[in-house]
Amino acid sequence: MTRTVREALKLPYASIELQQDDNGESFAVAEDGARQAETVRFALVHRGEPIGHLVVAPRSPGEPFSTSDRRLLDMMVRHASAVVQSAKASLDLKRAAADLRESRERLVVAREEERRRLRSNLHDDLAPRLAALAYTASAAESLLDSDPGKSKTILVELQSVIRSTVTDIRRLVHDLRPPALDELGLIGAIEERIGDLSRPLPTGSSVDAARKPSALQFRLHAPNALPALPAAVEVAAFRIVTEAIVNVVRHAAASSCEVRILYPAPQGDGLALEVIDDGRGIGERSYPSAEPGGIGLPSMRERAEELGGFVRLERAGPNGTRVKAYLPIALHQEGSEPA
Ligand SMILES: Nc1ncnc2c1ncn2[C@@H]1O[C@H](COP(=O)(O)OP(=O)(O)OP(=O)(O)O)[C@@H](O)[C@H]1O
Ligand SMILES: [Mg+2]
Repeated sequence: MTRTVREALKLPYASIELQQDDNGESFAVAEDGARQAETVRFALVHRGEPIGHLVVAPRSPGEPFSTSDRRLLDMMVRHASAVVQSAKASLDLKRAAADLRESRERLVVAREEERRRLRSNLHDDLAPRLAALAYTASAAESLLDSDPGKSKTILVELQSVIRSTVTDIRRLVHDLRPPALDELGLIGAIEERIGDLSRPLPTGSSVDAARKPSALQFRLHAPNALPALPAAVEVAAFRIVTEAIVNVVRHAAASSCEVRILYPAPQGDGLALEVIDDGRGIGERSYPSAEPGGIGLPSMRERAEELGGFVRLERAGPNGTRVKAYLPIALHQEGSEPA
């Protein structure tokens, strides 16, 4: 098309530029002839929207286009608009497909990462521990006659190792889907977690006195009932809220923490979550990305983004922190799915 324009009007140069939607910048998609210092740009428009430009150089520097040149150019611009629009549509489609592929890849990577973690927990931790239990049991057995006292000591130890292994297996299962979600529902499970964190810590705990959670008052605002949520949304909401409140307990040195669950969300058809504290704040450089090191904040973001939502950190009040999350609920997803 650029060649047709150039040859029909006997011009030294013609090109077609496509305008990108995201930043409004144009880039040449076709050109013919040698580039010139002086060019004239004609806007290409589709349904009132600018989609690009036809760029031509005058026959000689400073030479104006004649009326018949203009008429011909007008016609070319109309043709070019239709051609560019269809090229642009297929480019947009390709870009959307690429975005979709990338997000699917990210999901697969996240799932693989989760499996890798589970596998390493089972393989590196639980399997050797169970093997050690069998070994200890046989040691107790072999000492049963010759040294019953020693045998008894080993059996007592064995009981406590078995108990802690059971706790670890429970934790592993809990990581897959917190049982409280099935027993109490999302709001109930969050309430229970708040209850756990509000209890004074056992003596000898590693958390220092200034951060004692008993000095922290929680408030929960939630609707009386939520509709049946997709399992993925429910788990993500629970994880995001619990990580945010654990962070408040561990890092904020706050005196109050407010948890808000909003449905429907002000942002759209979905669930909005907020955890607001009046503590010391995350620090200016941490907005919107958090301090490096922890996996809590990045995994909160990933969970929301996997579902097409977001997590944002904002300053709340003079110093505190607000963690804001939005999880969309796609209509076709409605109703609980098996985890
Ligand atoms: N509510 C908060 N108030 C003040 N600082 C916070 C708050 N939440 C997070 N932070 C800061 O942001 C950092 C990153 O948090 P993140 O949850 O990612 O990691 P973490 O809590 O340190 O470790 P983990 O990986 O166990 O979650 C924290 O170490 C803390 O310094
Ligand atoms: Mg954390």
